[in-house]
Amino acid sequence: MKDDNFLREMNARHLWHPMGHPGDAQEHAPKIIKGAEGVTITDIDGHRVVDAVGGLWCVNLGYSNDVVKQAIADQLWQLPYYSAFAGTTNPPAIEASYAVQEFFAPDGMVRAFFTSGGSDSVDTCLRLARQYHRLRGQPARTKFLSLKKGYHGTHFGGASVNGNNRFRVNYEPLLPGCFHLPSPYPYRNPFDEADPARLARRIAAMAVDEIEFQGPDSIAAFIMEPVQGAGGVIVPDESFMGLMREICDRYGILLIADEVITGFGRLGDWTGSRHWGVQPDMMSTAKGITSGYFPVGAALMGQKVADVFETADAEGSIWHGYTYSAHPVGAAAVVATLAETQRLDVKTNAAARGRQLYDGMVDLAGKHDIIGDVRGGHGLMTGVELVSDRDSKTPLDATTMKRVHQATYEAGAMVRLGAHNILMSPPLTISEAEVNTILSALDTGLAAA
Ligand SMILES: Cc1ncc(COP(=O)(O)O)c(C=O)c1O
Repeated sequence: MKDDNFLREMNARHLWHPMGHPGDAQEHAPKIIKGAEGVTITDIDGHRVVDAVGGLWCVNLGYSNDVVKQAIADQLWQLPYYSAFAGTTNPPAIEASYAVQEFFAPDGMVRAFFTSGGSDSVDTCLRLARQYHRLRGQPARTKFLSLKKGYHGTHFGGASVNGNNRFRVNYEPLLPGCFHLPSPYPYRNPFDEADPARLARRIAAMAVDEIEFQGPDSIAAFIMEPVQGAGGVIVPDESFMGLMREICDRYGILLIADEVITGFGRLGDWTGSRHWGVQPDMMSTAKGITSGYFPVGAALMGQKVADVFETADAEGSIWHGYTYSAHPVGAAAVVATLAETQRLDVKTNAAARGRQLYDGMVDLAGKHDIIGDVRGGHGLMTGVELVSDRDSKTPLDATTMKRVHQATYEAGAMVRLGAHNILMSPPLTISEAEVNTILSALDTGLAAA
């Protein structure tokens, strides 16, 4: 490993970072994170902070889970790679598929298709949704419905159903046949409707209207996150996902739950769908499936979908997959992570610590006028929307947001910015004292606005 001077000198010189301006990264060098322990990270200057981001909504078990690390290391020596394309498989892949279907059985999921991450899992679901309808003799069902403010990764399929325009405009034209409904976002919506339940009913009514307009027999699937993450931690009314389930059933549309963030305990339940009492037809997962220790995702299929593929003629073949689908090292990480996730019962801690973080932010809103909206209260996903004026809800400018971010970091917590939102998703193993550290760091950071 080169020395620190080399790292500082070469930082962002040859590496284009995701989700940022390459020139800006050269001028404002990214923080170099050199180590991590428990739920804290340490940068190149030796500054240690609580990671309120959980890596990127993914390090559910914290940074020190030796069981998962050992499983990965052992598998590297046993079999570092072999293809799972037609004709071969490997022991951890078989074990991981069993563990995953057991974990998701209460959600009605019976089959796993492994991928390398969330974007892959989303696109796998979208593609297989179209094939499902072809196999059932409805090849015209090709369109997709989704929600504004939704985030479904950056492949062309996922970007096309994405509901934030900053992830779309530079890459248009996107996939034709994708239509967006308003987000269940009480703080800002086109109906000026602050009541979450009434807003849910309005969006459901719009869904019916749009489906009738498009022609129900032209729509393959509706995709939604149980709680919208990157869009600002937008928590729908508890009725919303159930209403959409009922509409999908009425019109023969598949419901895809994008559980890339919400799966594996983050909402205080093992999945977001279970949290809202809904069984989807497909699920996209990633992140917490290996706690971020190895890049793995899984697209999951319910019985109804599995039956159609497994009893089809040759057209049921899945001509889709990735070199690293069912990667033995990734699969070993999945088996160990699922076992640890359940042994540590992280969902229970997520519920309690999530409540503490949310309540603490509501208290801070009483003190800092720039807090326009606090969202969360369902496990360890908390969003704080900052405004320069509460009445007009004017979003706080980017320079002030960056100042808040840096001051918070210096005071002891790494948070994430998503436009004028502060997004938090710490490891699910976080302690009460560490949540208090995040809150006091934010108190200092907000005062620096
Ligand atoms: C809900 C959701 N879907 C899909 C993705 C894409 O996952 P990845 O970045 O692993 O491709 C993300 C990433 O944050 C996500 O939050």
